[in-house]
Amino acid sequence: MIQKQYLMIPGPTMVPERVLRVMVREMINHRGPEFIKILKNVTEGVKKCFKTNNDLFIIPSSGTGGMEAAIVNVLSEGDDVLVLNIGAFGARFVKILKAFRANVDEIKFERGKAADVATVEKKLKEKKYKAVFLQHNETSTGVLNDVKSLAAVIKKYDALVVVDSVSGLITADLRTDEWGLDVVVAASQKAFMLPPGLSFVSFSKKAWEYYAKAKMPRFYWDFKSMKDFADKGQNPFTPPVSLYYGMEEAIKILEEQGLENVFESHKKLRDMARTGLKSMGLKLLASDDVASCAVTAVFPPEGVGADELRKKINEKYGVVLAGGQEDLKGKIFRIGHLGFCAETDVMIALDAIKKEI
Ligand SMILES: Cc1ncc(COP(=O)(O)O)c(C=O)c1O
Repeated sequence: MIQKQYLMIPGPTMVPERVLRVMVREMINHRGPEFIKILKNVTEGVKKCFKTNNDLFIIPSSGTGGMEAAIVNVLSEGDDVLVLNIGAFGARFVKILKAFRANVDEIKFERGKAADVATVEKKLKEKKYKAVFLQHNETSTGVLNDVKSLAAVIKKYDALVVVDSVSGLITADLRTDEWGLDVVVAASQKAFMLPPGLSFVSFSKKAWEYYAKAKMPRFYWDFKSMKDFADKGQNPFTPPVSLYYGMEEAIKILEEQGLENVFESHKKLRDMARTGLKSMGLKLLASDDVASCAVTAVFPPEGVGADELRKKINEKYGVVLAGGQEDLKGKIFRIGHLGFCAETDVMIALDAIKKEI
């Protein structure tokens, strides 16, 4: 029998046929009038998803490239920065910042917990930071941070707010302008329902003030050069044109559905996954009040290896689940329920798990 695949990892996600089809069009001149229109449409569409009027750059990379661009355009070597580390992607911010020789402090929260506002405020009172880095949604633990409250406290201490919403955007509300988020990063392969290869970075007026003083080395990721070209409807370098075709179509789908409805359907999938897993007696890593709308992290039953279970489920049913990362490797498995994911997909994943535990 032909094995059908159910890709239930938290990105790359499944891609709708409508999006796949438009990406097989022929190439066009990336400095010609047709591309100018596409770039404008895609930029405007993504800005609506970010809820921002700030500058927004579309760059040819996975999410980590967007994180690096967010750092090198606002900081200099030796700058004091703080990372709210609630999982593997907080740890990634620390690694990139150290690679560019920022002076990094981190608050490492217990895995499965969100960043606690009072703890963050205490740290901000102790030391002056130029910027604070945090995740909207921490994919490795399935936890959603309260970005609105965290940003409010960070702004009180006049630090730049840099948010990684790579797996959060579109799965849960994020109000870039209303919440005063200076730099926000997202990527194509998550709830945008596209293959990997594009990241999106919004950049506020305050971020541009930081840019004017930032001395970290940058060339390909330089936002001033990107802005100069974007004003002409171009990118500084050859963009992945096919992904832009796909992005235009993905934005159409999101607009047809309406962003608020998309948030609601992600909540529904999250609740369905959590209820189903709990009814099997499985323990979830995150509690209900901080549960991610994009991914659910779960412990296997006592005596069952998480990775062995995933392997069996993949081989028998074609359901692909994600494993644990860093400290949680081999201890948990994760179900992605974001982007082009339907209730039926979650039902199939839950049924496969139920049969094998
Ligand atoms: C929260 C978060 N940040 C950043 C990334 C960036 O990773 P990548 O470079 O693999 O897209 C990911 C990808 O899984 C993510 O989930």
